[in-house]
Amino acid sequence: MISLTINGEAHEVDVQPEMPLLWVLRDELGLTGTKYGCGIAQCGACTVHLDGIAVRSCQLRVGSLQGASITTIEGLGTPNAMHAVQEAWSEKQVAQCGYCQSGQMMQAASLLTTTPKPTDAQIDAVMSGNLCRCGTYPRIRAAIHAASNKLQEG
Ligand code: FES
Ligand code: FES
Repeated sequence: MISLTINGEAHEVDVQPEMPLLWVLRDELGLTGTKYGCGIAQCGACTVHLDGIAVRSCQLRVGSLQGASITTIEGLGTPNAMHAVQEAWSEKQVAQCGYCQSGQMMQAASLLTTTPKPTDAQIDAVMSGNLCRCGTYPRIRAAIHAASNKLQEG
């Protein structure tokens, strides 16, 4: 059994330690907001937070995460209390097909934790690692600036 805290709730999962966290989230716990894209840590669709920092869940063996605290898109905010990133994403209508967007928002939230007021170049450097086939990057950039402003205003 592996103990994990997911979105603030304690879970015990009975899986092989080699299983990637992404499979635990989606198949064992039903948290399907986190997406599978490439499986090799190259696209960012599977991005979640490990102790508040963005990680690729497709390449994290769950056996290495005993006692860890994980946040998924389902735990970033709620419909009645959205995270500033989620509010900004909605206001700027960032999503197109939507497939990459939970990973994009998790990456953006992590960026704003480590860099509260990012420049365009800092945003582009980080967010270009999350692939969006619909090319929503200009709106992602605008939404991150908007979310940054919201967080600064408190
Ligand atoms: S599915 Fe994990 S980075 Fe692509
Ligand atoms: S919104 Fe379609 S892949 Fe990003």
